[in-house]
Amino acid sequence: MKRGSFNSRLGFILAASGSAVGLGNIWKFPFEVSNGGGAAFLLMYLFFCFILCFPVIVSEIAIGRNTKKNAIGAFNEMGKRKWNFIGKMGVLCGVLILSFYTIVAGWVLGYVFEMVTGNFSIADNFGNYVNNTTSVLLYAVLFMFLTALIVSRGIEKGIEKAAKILMPSLIFIILSLIVYALTLPNSIDGIIFYLVPDFSQINLTVAGNALGQAFFSLSLGMGMLITYGSYIDDKNNIISSATLITLTDVGIAFLSGLIIFPFVFSSGIETEGGPGLIFQVFPQIFENLGGTTGIIVGSTFFILLSFAAITSTVSLLEVPVSYLVDEYKIERKFSVWIVALVILLIGIPSAYSQGKSELFTNFITYFGADKPIDFMQFIIDVSNDTLLPFGGFLITIYVAYVWKKNNLSDEISKGNPYYKGSFMEKYINFSVTFICPLILGSIFLLTFLNKFFGI
Ligand code: PHE
Repeated sequence: MKRGSFNSRLGFILAASGSAVGLGNIWKFPFEVSNGGGAAFLLMYLFFCFILCFPVIVSEIAIGRNTKKNAIGAFNEMGKRKWNFIGKMGVLCGVLILSFYTIVAGWVLGYVFEMVTGNFSIADNFGNYVNNTTSVLLYAVLFMFLTALIVSRGIEKGIEKAAKILMPSLIFIILSLIVYALTLPNSIDGIIFYLVPDFSQINLTVAGNALGQAFFSLSLGMGMLITYGSYIDDKNNIISSATLITLTDVGIAFLSGLIIFPFVFSSGIETEGGPGLIFQVFPQIFENLGGTTGIIVGSTFFILLSFAAITSTVSLLEVPVSYLVDEYKIERKFSVWIVALVILLIGIPSAYSQGKSELFTNFITYFGADKPIDFMQFIIDVSNDTLLPFGGFLITIYVAYVWKKNNLSDEISKGNPYYKGSFMEKYINFSVTFICPLILGSIFLLTFLNKFFGI
Protein backbone atom coordinates (compact mmCIF):
# COMPACT_ATOMS: atom_id res chain seq x y z
CA MET A 1 0.00 0.00 0.00
CA LYS A 2 1.34 3.43 -0.91
CA ARG A 3 1.55 5.87 1.96
CA GLY A 4 0.11 9.28 1.12
CA SER A 5 1.99 12.57 1.26
CA PHE A 6 1.43 16.30 1.07
CA ASN A 7 1.82 17.59 -2.44
CA SER A 8 3.33 20.95 -1.52
CA ARG A 9 5.03 22.70 1.35
CA LEU A 10 2.18 25.19 1.51
CA GLY A 11 -0.26 22.30 1.73
CA PHE A 12 1.52 20.92 4.77
CA ILE A 13 1.69 24.32 6.46
CA LEU A 14 -1.99 24.99 5.82
CA ALA A 15 -3.02 21.55 7.04
CA ALA A 16 -0.90 21.78 10.19
CA SER A 17 -2.05 25.34 10.89
CA GLY A 18 -5.59 24.16 10.21
CA SER A 19 -5.16 21.56 12.91
CA ALA A 20 -3.78 24.18 15.27
CA VAL A 21 -6.39 26.83 14.56
CA GLY A 22 -9.65 25.59 15.99
CA LEU A 23 -12.23 26.01 18.70
CA GLY A 24 -9.21 26.44 20.98
CA ASN A 25 -8.40 29.77 19.35
CA ILE A 26 -11.85 31.24 18.94
CA TRP A 27 -13.99 29.61 21.61
CA LYS A 28 -11.54 28.77 24.40
CA PHE A 29 -8.84 31.41 24.10
CA PRO A 30 -11.03 34.48 24.77
CA PHE A 31 -12.51 33.14 27.98
CA GLU A 32 -9.14 31.93 29.19
CA VAL A 33 -7.88 35.47 28.57
CA SER A 34 -10.71 37.06 30.48
CA ASN A 35 -10.27 34.66 33.41
CA GLY A 36 -6.53 35.15 33.45
CA GLY A 37 -6.07 38.91 33.67
CA GLY A 38 -6.45 39.94 30.02
CA ALA A 39 -3.12 40.76 28.48
CA ALA A 40 -1.22 39.21 31.38
CA PHE A 41 -2.50 35.84 30.20
CA LEU A 42 -1.79 36.77 26.61
CA LEU A 43 1.86 37.52 27.35
CA MET A 44 2.35 34.29 29.22
CA TYR A 45 0.68 32.36 26.42
CA LEU A 46 2.95 33.97 23.81
CA PHE A 47 5.99 33.16 25.90
CA PHE A 48 4.97 29.51 26.22
CA CYS A 49 4.20 29.17 22.51
CA PHE A 50 7.44 30.63 21.24
CA ILE A 51 9.90 29.56 23.92
CA LEU A 52 8.64 26.25 25.26
CA CYS A 53 6.42 24.85 22.52
CA PHE A 54 8.49 25.74 19.49
CA PRO A 55 11.26 23.16 20.18
CA VAL A 56 8.56 20.52 20.73
CA ILE A 57 6.95 21.37 17.38
CA VAL A 58 10.29 21.02 15.62
CA SER A 59 11.02 17.72 17.40
CA GLU A 60 7.66 16.19 16.53
CA ILE A 61 7.94 17.09 12.84
CA ALA A 62 11.51 15.78 12.72
CA ILE A 63 10.52 12.43 14.29
CA GLY A 64 7.67 12.06 11.80
CA ARG A 65 9.68 12.90 8.73
CA ASN A 66 12.64 10.80 9.79
CA THR A 67 10.55 7.66 10.18
CA LYS A 68 7.65 8.27 7.76
CA LYS A 69 5.44 6.58 10.31
CA ASN A 70 2.45 7.31 12.55
CA ALA A 71 2.72 8.51 16.16
CA ILE A 72 3.30 5.03 17.60
CA GLY A 73 5.06 3.35 14.69
CA ALA A 74 7.62 6.16 14.56
CA PHE A 75 9.19 5.00 17.82
CA ASN A 76 9.28 1.36 16.64
CA GLU A 77 10.82 2.42 13.35
CA MET A 78 13.65 4.12 15.24
CA GLY A 79 14.25 0.90 17.11
CA LYS A 80 13.01 2.41 20.37
CA ARG A 81 9.95 0.26 20.86
CA LYS A 82 10.05 0.78 24.64
CA TRP A 83 9.35 4.46 24.06
CA ASN A 84 6.31 3.97 21.90
CA PHE A 85 4.18 4.50 25.00
CA ILE A 86 4.60 8.22 24.24
CA GLY A 87 2.80 7.60 20.97
CA LYS A 88 0.21 5.37 22.60
CA MET A 89 -0.54 8.06 25.14
CA GLY A 90 -0.83 10.56 22.29
CA VAL A 91 -3.28 8.45 20.31
CA LEU A 92 -5.39 7.92 23.42
CA CYS A 93 -5.30 11.62 24.17
CA GLY A 94 -6.34 12.47 20.60
CA VAL A 95 -9.28 10.08 20.84
CA LEU A 96 -10.40 11.70 24.10
CA ILE A 97 -10.05 15.21 22.70
CA LEU A 98 -11.96 14.34 19.55
CA SER A 99 -14.75 12.75 21.59
CA PHE A 100 -15.72 16.00 23.34
CA TYR A 101 -14.57 18.28 20.53
CA THR A 102 -17.15 16.71 18.21
CA ILE A 103 -19.90 17.50 20.70
CA VAL A 104 -18.88 21.18 20.97
CA ALA A 105 -18.51 21.27 17.17
CA GLY A 106 -22.04 19.86 17.04
CA TRP A 107 -23.28 22.81 19.15
CA VAL A 108 -21.52 25.16 16.74
CA LEU A 109 -23.00 23.55 13.65
CA GLY A 110 -26.46 23.71 15.21
CA TYR A 111 -25.93 27.41 15.90
CA VAL A 112 -25.20 28.07 12.22
CA PHE A 113 -28.74 26.92 11.46
CA GLU A 114 -30.21 28.89 14.37
CA MET A 115 -28.47 32.09 13.21
CA VAL A 116 -29.47 31.61 9.59
CA THR A 117 -33.10 31.40 10.66
CA GLY A 118 -32.69 34.40 12.98
CA ASN A 119 -33.45 32.42 16.12
CA PHE A 120 -31.36 34.58 18.47
CA SER A 121 -33.39 33.68 21.54
CA ILE A 122 -31.50 30.38 21.48
CA ALA A 123 -29.03 32.20 23.73
CA ASP A 124 -31.52 32.38 26.62
CA ASN A 125 -32.15 28.66 26.28
CA PHE A 126 -28.59 27.48 25.98
CA GLY A 127 -29.20 25.05 28.85
CA ASN A 128 -32.14 23.51 26.99
CA TYR A 129 -30.26 23.61 23.73
CA VAL A 130 -27.33 21.51 24.96
CA ASN A 131 -29.66 19.18 26.79
CA ASN A 132 -31.65 18.42 23.72
CA THR A 133 -29.26 15.53 23.34
CA THR A 134 -31.01 14.05 20.31
CA SER A 135 -30.38 17.13 18.22
CA VAL A 136 -26.91 17.73 19.68
CA LEU A 137 -25.91 14.17 18.83
CA LEU A 138 -27.38 14.45 15.35
CA TYR A 139 -25.29 17.54 14.67
CA ALA A 140 -22.24 15.84 16.17
CA VAL A 141 -22.80 12.84 13.89
CA LEU A 142 -23.13 15.17 10.90
CA PHE A 143 -19.91 16.93 11.87
CA MET A 144 -18.06 13.66 12.31
CA PHE A 145 -19.45 12.45 8.99
CA LEU A 146 -17.98 15.48 7.17
CA THR A 147 -14.68 15.00 9.00
CA ALA A 148 -14.53 11.32 8.08
CA LEU A 149 -15.37 12.11 4.47
CA ILE A 150 -12.32 14.37 4.22
CA VAL A 151 -9.96 11.97 6.00
CA SER A 152 -11.14 8.99 3.96
CA ARG A 153 -9.96 10.72 0.77
CA GLY A 154 -6.39 10.59 2.02
CA ILE A 155 -3.68 13.16 2.57
CA GLU A 156 -3.40 15.03 -0.70
CA LYS A 157 -6.95 14.75 -2.03
CA GLY A 158 -8.63 14.99 1.35
CA ILE A 159 -6.74 16.76 4.13
CA GLU A 160 -4.56 19.02 1.99
CA LYS A 161 -7.32 20.02 -0.39
CA ALA A 162 -9.75 20.85 2.42
CA ALA A 163 -7.12 22.96 4.18
CA LYS A 164 -6.36 24.86 1.00
CA ILE A 165 -9.99 25.88 0.68
CA LEU A 166 -10.95 26.32 4.32
CA MET A 167 -7.91 28.17 5.73
CA PRO A 168 -7.93 31.12 3.30
CA SER A 169 -11.72 31.43 3.75
CA LEU A 170 -11.26 31.42 7.49
CA ILE A 171 -8.68 34.20 7.38
CA PHE A 172 -10.91 36.24 5.12
CA ILE A 173 -13.89 35.85 7.48
CA ILE A 174 -11.79 36.77 10.53
CA LEU A 175 -10.45 39.94 8.92
CA SER A 176 -13.92 41.00 7.80
CA LEU A 177 -15.34 40.46 11.28
CA ILE A 178 -12.50 42.47 12.90
CA VAL A 179 -13.11 45.41 10.61
CA TYR A 180 -16.76 45.21 11.49
CA ALA A 181 -16.14 44.79 15.25
CA LEU A 182 -13.89 47.84 15.40
CA THR A 183 -16.61 50.07 13.99
CA LEU A 184 -18.98 49.24 16.86
CA PRO A 185 -19.46 51.84 19.63
CA ASN A 186 -17.24 51.35 22.72
CA SER A 187 -15.20 48.72 20.95
CA ILE A 188 -12.12 50.49 22.26
CA ASP A 189 -12.97 49.48 25.86
CA GLY A 190 -12.83 45.87 24.76
CA ILE A 191 -9.44 46.41 23.18
CA ILE A 192 -8.14 48.06 26.35
CA PHE A 193 -9.31 45.19 28.51
CA TYR A 194 -7.71 42.77 26.08
CA LEU A 195 -4.38 44.51 25.67
CA VAL A 196 -3.60 46.14 29.02
CA PRO A 197 -2.15 43.51 31.35
CA ASP A 198 -3.25 43.02 34.96
CA PHE A 199 -0.30 41.12 36.40
CA SER A 200 -1.93 40.66 39.80
CA GLN A 201 -4.12 37.95 38.24
CA ILE A 202 -1.21 35.67 37.48
CA ASN A 203 -0.83 32.64 39.70
CA LEU A 204 -0.02 28.97 39.32
CA THR A 205 -3.48 28.04 38.11
CA VAL A 206 -3.38 30.73 35.45
CA ALA A 207 0.13 29.69 34.38
CA GLY A 208 -0.96 26.04 34.19
CA ASN A 209 -3.97 27.04 32.12
CA ALA A 210 -1.83 29.13 29.79
CA LEU A 211 0.52 26.20 29.25
CA GLY A 212 -2.37 23.79 28.65
CA GLN A 213 -3.90 26.31 26.28
CA ALA A 214 -0.62 26.71 24.38
CA PHE A 215 -0.33 22.94 23.89
CA PHE A 216 -3.97 22.47 23.03
CA SER A 217 -3.99 25.36 20.64
CA LEU A 218 -0.86 24.18 18.83
CA SER A 219 -2.19 20.57 18.73
CA LEU A 220 1.02 19.62 20.45
CA GLY A 221 2.13 16.70 22.59
CA MET A 222 -0.13 14.03 21.09
CA GLY A 223 1.63 13.08 17.89
CA MET A 224 -0.40 15.12 15.43
CA LEU A 225 2.79 16.71 14.11
CA ILE A 226 4.60 13.37 14.07
CA THR A 227 1.78 12.09 11.87
CA TYR A 228 1.57 15.12 9.55
CA GLY A 229 5.38 15.36 9.54
CA SER A 230 5.54 11.81 8.22
CA TYR A 231 3.83 12.99 5.05
CA ILE A 232 6.44 15.61 4.06
CA ASP A 233 9.66 15.22 2.12
CA ASP A 234 13.27 16.04 2.93
CA LYS A 235 13.23 19.33 1.05
CA ASN A 236 10.85 20.80 3.59
CA ASN A 237 12.52 23.30 5.92
CA ILE A 238 11.25 22.21 9.33
CA ILE A 239 12.30 25.37 11.15
CA SER A 240 10.53 27.75 8.82
CA SER A 241 7.46 25.49 8.61
CA ALA A 242 7.30 25.35 12.40
CA THR A 243 7.64 29.13 12.57
CA LEU A 244 4.79 29.67 10.14
CA ILE A 245 2.54 27.20 11.94
CA THR A 246 3.19 28.89 15.29
CA LEU A 247 2.69 32.37 13.88
CA THR A 248 -0.58 31.41 12.20
CA ASP A 249 -1.94 29.79 15.32
CA VAL A 250 -0.92 32.55 17.70
CA GLY A 251 -1.94 35.19 15.17
CA ILE A 252 -5.43 33.82 14.76
CA ALA A 253 -5.94 33.41 18.50
CA PHE A 254 -4.85 37.01 18.93
CA LEU A 255 -7.05 38.27 16.11
CA SER A 256 -10.11 36.45 17.39
CA GLY A 257 -9.69 38.42 20.63
CA LEU A 258 -9.97 41.55 18.51
CA ILE A 259 -13.41 40.36 17.44
CA ILE A 260 -14.69 38.94 20.71
CA PHE A 261 -13.84 41.74 23.17
CA PRO A 262 -15.11 44.65 21.07
CA PHE A 263 -18.34 42.67 20.50
CA VAL A 264 -18.81 42.02 24.20
CA PHE A 265 -17.92 45.52 25.40
CA SER A 266 -19.96 47.32 22.80
CA SER A 267 -23.01 45.21 23.59
CA GLY A 268 -22.87 46.31 27.24
CA ILE A 269 -23.99 42.79 28.23
CA GLU A 270 -22.65 41.71 31.60
CA THR A 271 -20.88 38.41 31.29
CA GLU A 272 -18.87 36.15 33.48
CA GLY A 273 -17.02 34.83 30.46
CA GLY A 274 -16.64 31.08 30.68
CA PRO A 275 -17.33 28.39 28.11
CA GLY A 276 -20.83 29.74 27.45
CA LEU A 277 -19.49 33.14 26.37
CA ILE A 278 -19.82 32.56 22.68
CA PHE A 279 -23.03 30.58 22.85
CA GLN A 280 -24.93 32.66 25.38
CA VAL A 281 -23.71 36.18 24.83
CA PHE A 282 -23.05 36.29 21.13
CA PRO A 283 -26.56 35.61 19.81
CA GLN A 284 -27.80 38.53 21.97
CA ILE A 285 -25.14 40.72 20.42
CA PHE A 286 -26.21 39.64 16.95
CA GLU A 287 -29.82 40.27 17.83
CA ASN A 288 -29.01 43.83 18.91
CA LEU A 289 -27.45 44.44 15.53
CA GLY A 290 -30.93 44.02 14.16
CA GLY A 291 -32.59 41.99 11.41
CA THR A 292 -30.53 41.14 8.38
CA THR A 293 -27.22 42.48 9.74
CA GLY A 294 -27.61 40.25 12.78
CA ILE A 295 -28.38 37.23 10.66
CA ILE A 296 -25.43 37.83 8.36
CA VAL A 297 -22.87 38.60 11.08
CA GLY A 298 -24.20 35.79 13.30
CA SER A 299 -24.15 33.10 10.65
CA THR A 300 -20.75 34.23 9.38
CA PHE A 301 -19.36 33.98 12.88
CA PHE A 302 -20.56 30.44 13.47
CA ILE A 303 -19.51 29.36 9.97
CA LEU A 304 -16.06 30.67 10.87
CA LEU A 305 -16.09 28.50 13.98
CA SER A 306 -17.20 25.45 11.99
CA PHE A 307 -14.41 25.91 9.45
CA ALA A 308 -11.86 26.29 12.22
CA ALA A 309 -13.21 23.20 13.99
CA ILE A 310 -13.27 20.87 11.01
CA THR A 311 -9.62 21.28 10.04
CA SER A 312 -8.84 20.33 13.65
CA THR A 313 -11.16 17.32 13.85
CA VAL A 314 -9.66 16.10 10.58
CA SER A 315 -6.20 16.04 12.15
CA LEU A 316 -7.48 14.44 15.35
CA LEU A 317 -9.04 11.64 13.33
CA GLU A 318 -5.97 11.20 11.13
CA VAL A 319 -3.73 10.31 14.10
CA PRO A 320 -5.42 6.99 15.05
CA VAL A 321 -6.33 6.26 11.42
CA SER A 322 -2.73 6.56 10.30
CA TYR A 323 -1.74 4.20 13.11
CA LEU A 324 -4.22 1.54 11.96
CA VAL A 325 -3.26 1.94 8.30
CA ASP A 326 0.52 1.76 8.93
CA GLU A 327 0.69 -0.85 11.63
CA TYR A 328 -2.21 -3.18 10.85
CA LYS A 329 -2.46 -2.57 7.11
CA ILE A 330 -6.16 -1.87 7.49
CA GLU A 331 -7.59 -0.04 4.52
CA ARG A 332 -7.87 3.74 5.04
CA LYS A 333 -11.59 4.07 4.32
CA PHE A 334 -12.47 1.22 6.62
CA SER A 335 -10.23 2.54 9.44
CA VAL A 336 -11.76 5.99 9.13
CA TRP A 337 -15.35 4.88 9.57
CA ILE A 338 -14.58 2.48 12.40
CA VAL A 339 -12.55 5.03 14.37
CA ALA A 340 -15.17 7.74 13.75
CA LEU A 341 -17.90 5.47 15.08
CA VAL A 342 -15.96 4.48 18.19
CA ILE A 343 -15.12 8.11 18.98
CA LEU A 344 -18.74 9.15 18.59
CA LEU A 345 -19.71 6.50 21.13
CA ILE A 346 -17.06 7.72 23.56
CA GLY A 347 -18.45 11.23 23.09
CA ILE A 348 -21.99 10.35 24.19
CA PRO A 349 -21.31 10.85 27.94
CA SER A 350 -19.95 14.33 27.14
CA ALA A 351 -23.19 15.19 25.39
CA TYR A 352 -25.12 14.03 28.47
CA SER A 353 -22.85 15.85 30.90
CA GLN A 354 -24.36 19.31 30.59
CA GLY A 355 -27.33 18.61 32.86
CA LYS A 356 -29.12 15.79 31.08
CA SER A 357 -27.70 12.95 33.11
CA GLU A 358 -27.01 13.37 36.81
CA LEU A 359 -24.20 10.80 36.71
CA PHE A 360 -22.25 12.57 33.98
CA THR A 361 -23.12 16.09 35.08
CA ASN A 362 -21.76 15.68 38.59
CA PHE A 363 -19.20 13.21 37.48
CA ILE A 364 -16.28 13.54 39.87
CA THR A 365 -15.10 15.68 42.77
CA TYR A 366 -11.34 16.17 42.96
CA PHE A 367 -9.56 16.04 46.30
CA GLY A 368 -9.83 19.37 48.03
CA ALA A 369 -12.56 20.63 45.68
CA ASP A 370 -15.99 21.50 47.01
CA LYS A 371 -17.96 20.96 43.81
CA PRO A 372 -18.06 18.04 41.40
CA ILE A 373 -17.26 18.67 37.75
CA ASP A 374 -18.93 17.23 34.71
CA PHE A 375 -17.67 14.46 32.48
CA MET A 376 -16.68 16.76 29.62
CA GLN A 377 -14.66 19.00 31.92
CA PHE A 378 -13.00 15.92 33.37
CA ILE A 379 -11.94 14.76 29.90
CA ILE A 380 -10.67 18.28 29.15
CA ASP A 381 -8.65 18.35 32.39
CA VAL A 382 -7.13 14.94 31.72
CA SER A 383 -6.38 15.41 28.04
CA ASN A 384 -5.67 19.09 27.41
CA ASP A 385 -4.19 20.23 30.66
CA THR A 386 -2.40 17.05 31.71
CA LEU A 387 -1.61 14.58 28.94
CA LEU A 388 -0.60 17.17 26.32
CA PRO A 389 2.05 19.02 28.37
CA PHE A 390 3.21 15.66 29.72
CA GLY A 391 3.50 14.32 26.16
CA GLY A 392 5.52 17.40 25.19
CA PHE A 393 7.78 16.86 28.18
CA LEU A 394 8.38 13.21 27.21
CA ILE A 395 9.05 14.09 23.58
CA THR A 396 11.83 16.49 24.52
CA ILE A 397 13.33 13.91 26.88
CA TYR A 398 13.16 11.34 24.11
CA VAL A 399 14.77 13.59 21.53
CA ALA A 400 17.54 14.84 23.78
CA TYR A 401 18.46 11.69 25.68
CA VAL A 402 17.29 8.71 23.64
CA TRP A 403 17.32 9.68 19.97
CA LYS A 404 20.15 12.17 20.63
CA LYS A 405 20.64 15.74 19.53
CA ASN A 406 22.98 15.04 16.62
CA ASN A 407 20.29 12.90 14.97
CA LEU A 408 17.77 15.68 15.46
CA SER A 409 20.22 18.15 13.89
CA ASP A 410 20.87 15.80 10.96
CA GLU A 411 17.17 15.50 10.28
CA ILE A 412 16.51 19.23 10.48
CA SER A 413 19.47 20.14 8.31
CA LYS A 414 18.18 18.00 5.42
CA GLY A 415 15.92 20.81 4.25
CA ASN A 416 17.99 23.54 5.85
CA PRO A 417 21.70 23.45 4.92
CA TYR A 418 22.60 26.39 7.19
CA TYR A 419 21.08 24.83 10.29
CA LYS A 420 24.20 23.20 11.70
CA GLY A 421 26.23 25.65 13.69
CA SER A 422 23.45 28.26 13.62
CA PHE A 423 22.06 30.04 16.66
CA MET A 424 18.78 28.19 16.03
CA GLU A 425 20.50 24.82 16.39
CA LYS A 426 22.08 25.86 19.68
CA TYR A 427 18.78 27.18 20.90
CA ILE A 428 16.79 24.06 19.95
CA ASN A 429 19.40 21.75 21.44
CA PHE A 430 19.65 23.69 24.67
CA SER A 431 15.86 23.82 24.99
CA VAL A 432 15.19 20.15 24.42
CA THR A 433 17.99 19.18 26.77
CA PHE A 434 17.35 21.55 29.66
CA ILE A 435 14.67 24.23 29.40
CA CYS A 436 11.74 22.17 28.13
CA PRO A 437 12.17 19.10 30.34
CA LEU A 438 12.71 21.29 33.38
CA ILE A 439 9.96 23.86 32.92
CA LEU A 440 7.42 21.59 31.24
CA GLY A 441 8.08 18.93 33.82
CA SER A 442 7.66 21.20 36.80
CA ILE A 443 4.62 23.09 35.56
CA PHE A 444 3.04 19.77 34.63
CA LEU A 445 3.71 18.32 38.05
CA LEU A 446 2.49 21.38 39.93
CA THR A 447 -0.66 21.70 37.82
CA PHE A 448 -1.37 18.00 38.19
CA LEU A 449 -1.10 18.10 41.99
CA ASN A 450 -2.99 21.35 42.16
CA LYS A 451 -5.82 20.34 39.86
CA PHE A 452 -6.57 16.81 40.94
CA PHE A 453 -5.37 16.83 44.53
CA GLY A 454 -5.87 20.43 45.58
CA ILE A 455 -2.24 20.71 46.70
N1 PHE B 1 -5.58 22.89 18.19
C1 PHE B 1 -6.97 22.60 18.15
C2 PHE B 1 -7.72 23.84 18.60
O1 PHE B 1 -7.14 24.81 18.98
C3 PHE B 1 -7.34 21.41 18.99
C4 PHE B 1 -6.50 20.21 18.76
C5 PHE B 1 -5.76 19.67 19.80
C6 PHE B 1 -6.44 19.62 17.51
C7 PHE B 1 -4.95 18.59 19.61
C8 PHE B 1 -5.62 18.53 17.30
C9 PHE B 1 -4.87 18.02 18.34
O2 PHE B 1 -8.92 23.87 18.60
